[in-house]
Amino acid sequence: MQIENSVVVITGAASGLGWATAQVLEVQGARVALLDRQASVFAQADTLGGAAMAATVDVTDTASAEAAYQQVMARWGRIDALINCAGIGGASRTLGKQGPMPLDLFQRIVQVNLLGSFNMARLAAEQIAKNAAGDDGERGVIIHTASIAAYEGQVGQVAYSASKGGIVGMTLPMARDLAGMGIRVNTIAPGIFATPLMQAAGDEVSQPLIAATQFPKRLGLPQEFGELVAHILGNRFINGEVLRIDGALRMPPR
Ligand SMILES: NC(=O)c1ccc[n+]([C@@H]2O[C@H](COP(=O)([O-])OP(=O)(O)OC[C@H]3O[C@@H](n4cnc5c(N)ncnc54)[C@H](O)[C@@H]3O)[C@@H](O)[C@H]2O)c1
Repeated sequence: MQIENSVVVITGAASGLGWATAQVLEVQGARVALLDRQASVFAQADTLGGAAMAATVDVTDTASAEAAYQQVMARWGRIDALINCAGIGGASRTLGKQGPMPLDLFQRIVQVNLLGSFNMARLAAEQIAKNAAGDDGERGVIIHTASIAAYEGQVGQVAYSASKGGIVGMTLPMARDLAGMGIRVNTIAPGIFATPLMQAAGDEVSQPLIAATQFPKRLGLPQEFGELVAHILGNRFINGEVLRIDGALRMPPR
């Protein structure tokens, strides 16, 4: 997919990886739609020099997702790609000192991270499928954000890892579902990145993880995530795959 002039919808665009991705793609000439539950996306869209718009959305709420896509279609008449970055954390053990993990906490994390990603993807695919086929019959691209916690979740990450493991698991079947329409589907599994989500976890969480990162020994830069998104958008043979970006970090149990 050619990034210049394309229409790219980014969820979780108010912060961290989503915001960095919006900035990277806008510099490369994409028209970016910033979607988030935080209304700050409106002011952020105004700071971008190129074509940008914003809409508030709860990714778990179909009505708000459909309304946001309709706004993008009304503005630019097409959607070429969806980048799913909206997500939440939340640590709790299966059985802790206070008793069993509250089921509604598990449910909420899976609902936002997994169901929210699927909800946005299925509705984006409906719009992307309307595009005229380009080179190789390509119509567009969907990129999800999982985490390396999908593979080596730590103590307390049972819900988060389940939600991200679900994203990993749906990547290939979604790519297969949408292959006939020329829509590629890939997932990025980040290690630890310097974003508000990681800052909220605190130094006691991030410092041991930096120490376990092989090279370079630091947090990932959100821009590095955005550059991987841009590469996947442009490279038509990457499909149905989960790509780790983690400085060779393999997380220990705690
Ligand atoms: N930062 C890391 O180290 C790291 C590592 C692995 C995976 N990830 C994943 O990357 C994604 C982005 O993380 P981040 O670090 O940029 O986090 P962040 O907290 O900085 O940004 C997440 C954004 O998602 C939005 N959001 C949350 N729930 C929403 C909902 N229901 N509807 C719409 N928007 C919603 C938030 O408002 C926020 O702007 C998440 O899925 C996260 O799990 C992050």
